[in-house]
Amino acid sequence: MRPCCVKATFVLLLLTVCQAAATEPHPKPPGWAIASAHPLVTDAGVEIARAGGNAFDAAVAMSAALAVVEPMGSGLGGGGFWLLHHAKNGQQVMVDGRERAPQRAHRDMYLDAAGNVRPRASLDGPLAAAIPGEPAALAYIAERYGRLPLSRSLTPAIRFARDGFAVTHRYQRLATLRKPVFNAAAAQVFLVNGEVPGSGTLIKQPDLASTLTLIAQHGHAGFYAGQLAKRLVDGVATQGGVWVATDLSSYAVMEREPIRGSYRDVEITSAAPPSSGGIALVAMLNMLERWDLGQFARVDRIHRIVESMRRAYRDRAMYLGDPDFVSIDTGRLTSKDYARMLSDDVDAYATSNQASGKNRTEGRDTTHFSILDDEGNRVAATLSINYPFGSGFMVAGTGVLLNNEMDDFAAKSGVANVYGLIGGEANAIAPGKRPLSSMSPTFLETENAVAVLGTPGGSRIISMVLLASLAFAEGTLDANELVTLPRFHHQYVPDQIVFEPFAIEQTDLVGLKLKGHQLQRRESPYGDMQAVIWRKDQGQLQAASDPRGEGRGTVILSK
Ligand code: GLY
Repeated sequence: MRPCCVKATFVLLLLTVCQAAATEPHPKPPGWAIASAHPLVTDAGVEIARAGGNAFDAAVAMSAALAVVEPMGSGLGGGGFWLLHHAKNGQQVMVDGRERAPQRAHRDMYLDAAGNVRPRASLDGPLAAAIPGEPAALAYIAERYGRLPLSRSLTPAIRFARDGFAVTHRYQRLATLRKPVFNAAAAQVFLVNGEVPGSGTLIKQPDLASTLTLIAQHGHAGFYAGQLAKRLVDGVATQGGVWVATDLSSYAVMEREPIRGSYRDVEITSAAPPSSGGIALVAMLNMLERWDLGQFARVDRIHRIVESMRRAYRDRAMYLGDPDFVSIDTGRLTSKDYARMLSDDVDAYATSNQASGKNRTEGRDTTHFSILDDEGNRVAATLSINYPFGSGFMVAGTGVLLNNEMDDFAAKSGVANVYGLIGGEANAIAPGKRPLSSMSPTFLETENAVAVLGTPGGSRIISMVLLASLAFAEGTLDANELVTLPRFHHQYVPDQIVFEPFAIEQTDLVGLKLKGHQLQRRESPYGDMQAVIWRKDQGQLQAASDPRGEGRGTVILSK
């Protein structure tokens, strides 16, 4: 195991309520399990649980807390997907708080006169920012599904913004990466005298505390109408962005039917379009289900997994986009018959070599948390402002750091974005459209166990969730093991297997090369998976935070 995995903070609380495995499944979890990318955020979830909230209240509190203490990953200036499971009636829904392109956006807005993509135009500054969805989602979830008032659920976040959070090593690394693009307002909040602050420095965000207080008092309208909305629109428009007031006033959360599938005895529920995550995950598992992977030598197993990734990511590029703008044949793309047809040409001895393209910067963005409450409600939420610290543009006086989610569109058909992902017509820019995402909050369920999981990591999110899903299906019912699994990835373009240090053994590297694969060993690990597991058969809960990150998982007993 890599040194970072050995020494990283890693909390796994295992609660065994029954001494022996029970014969009857337990109808309700014995408590709560929570995992997030930041200890203060996990604390916020615990605080809301103790205040009498349910998992949905905790989700509101934790999303807002992440916006404050992990500003490089998500925030009020961004968006996300909240996958909800309501224990009482079994209802499952994906709350889509994804950002939308502004009304004045157009398909060629990032091209120069010669029709080439202007480098960084969709990444840095206010022109890169789509209309945020997270504040709307917080108000919506609190009102529709929560038990506590929004004002109570936002209390921890407001406190963290007012009192400050401590700079960590990860903060320093990502602030160093994005410091060159911070505008003055962002630099004032995230830097000290123009420099990345030392470890332990307290970052206080009084303007963000005021904005959160406005949302606590007025809900949706606190952000999308009135003085704050005017300030946001003026701040963007005067600095080269294209927002107008109606972009904010017309923003609405959507409820989507999640993507469902099965792999052997595991039921899968995952993100629907405008995320590509659920469709790609189910498609890959459908392809892999035709083989007994456990019977293969490691190299043959990796080869087949990679070939399924290649095919699913190709379909992602060809067919997927915002379902309100493009027609997606979800039934076909997630069917077993289609998967059989797609994987019929997988050659046991050779790669399919289907596309060329350049390697691009990987994702170190986004965030995820997982919650299971003592009634059995679940939330898997993956939230983003896209690249670390989003566009680097903060609207002065608001504390709101804006996303650069416009880069998740295909700025030009076939030209790769910052994650090396290509896209076509289905993901072209259009006013009001949501950019295609890879975020994949997921539930896995068998008769005896439930897992709630997800991770950040740009284009690699889907392959990380795939590897965890396969492990769960093969009997890894240990949250710690799921978040620690070594990772490898293929995304069709570029045609290469990217892998973490030590994820693939030397002999297997040779075997994969002989089959024609190109391999790219990463110098550092990637992802920050957060997983909770409820062993229904044993009345046991687990919560684990990826040792590659700085988060924490915790289990709390019912009162
Ligand atoms: N911004 C990363 C994603 O949505 O996939």
